[in-house]
Amino acid sequence: MSAETDPVKVMKQEVGKAAAQRVQSGTIVGLGTGSTTAYAIQYIGDRIKKGDLKDIKGIPTSFQAEVLAKEHGIPLTSLDAVDHIDVAIDGADEVDPQKNLIKGGGAAHTREKVVDSLADQFIVVVDSGKLVERLGSTFKLPVEVIPMAYAPVMRAIEKLGGKPELRMGVKKAGPVVTDQGNMVIDVTFDSIDNPGELEKTINNIPGVLENGLFVGVANVVLVGEVKDGQPLV
Ligand code: 5RP
Repeated sequence: MSAETDPVKVMKQEVGKAAAQRVQSGTIVGLGTGSTTAYAIQYIGDRIKKGDLKDIKGIPTSFQAEVLAKEHGIPLTSLDAVDHIDVAIDGADEVDPQKNLIKGGGAAHTREKVVDSLADQFIVVVDSGKLVERLGSTFKLPVEVIPMAYAPVMRAIEKLGGKPELRMGVKKAGPVVTDQGNMVIDVTFDSIDNPGELEKTINNIPGVLENGLFVGVANVVLVGEVKDGQPLV
């Protein structure tokens, strides 16, 4: 355990470790994206180095996850080389009481949805600040679009009642570009009453690749909480 004192980071670290401890030898593991999953990747690597975890193969959900996995000595494979994924570990930006999620804060939700949906067990790792009663209440919904279609997609989203913004990169020098070479539109909705319907409706707009609503995909949600100064998972 490191000497990290920031309570949110401590929650992320503990929950990442708890998820890494659930990984078993001889399995194919989906490796999510973001600061919480980064801890899980680190602890999986530590277990491999200690000899506690053998014959693991990871499937990264982003360039970031791929780089981290290599750094921590996790052997990688790809979806064309395996016929299943045993477990996927990934973070989320919001989690509702039905375990539905908003993801895509790291612009990786398209590949994350592919990998997380294929896993026999999808474990979500979050700090307690990500829990919401209703999706969309604290986080904008990310939508990945092909670049030539961003303007008509934004207009179509406005007609659905959303307020779209093109996600800009550092110092707003240009739009954020995904691992697939696309753009991300972040959408504010007054209320997401039916996440499953909205997920399909948005994905049906020509030019949309994938949106960040994950409905009925998560099996387990591990929540890091701090109580009396002590992290709980
Ligand atoms: C990336 C994601 C991340 O999992 C999500 O943004 C949570 O990240 P963090 O663990 O850093 O809070 O969906 O596209």
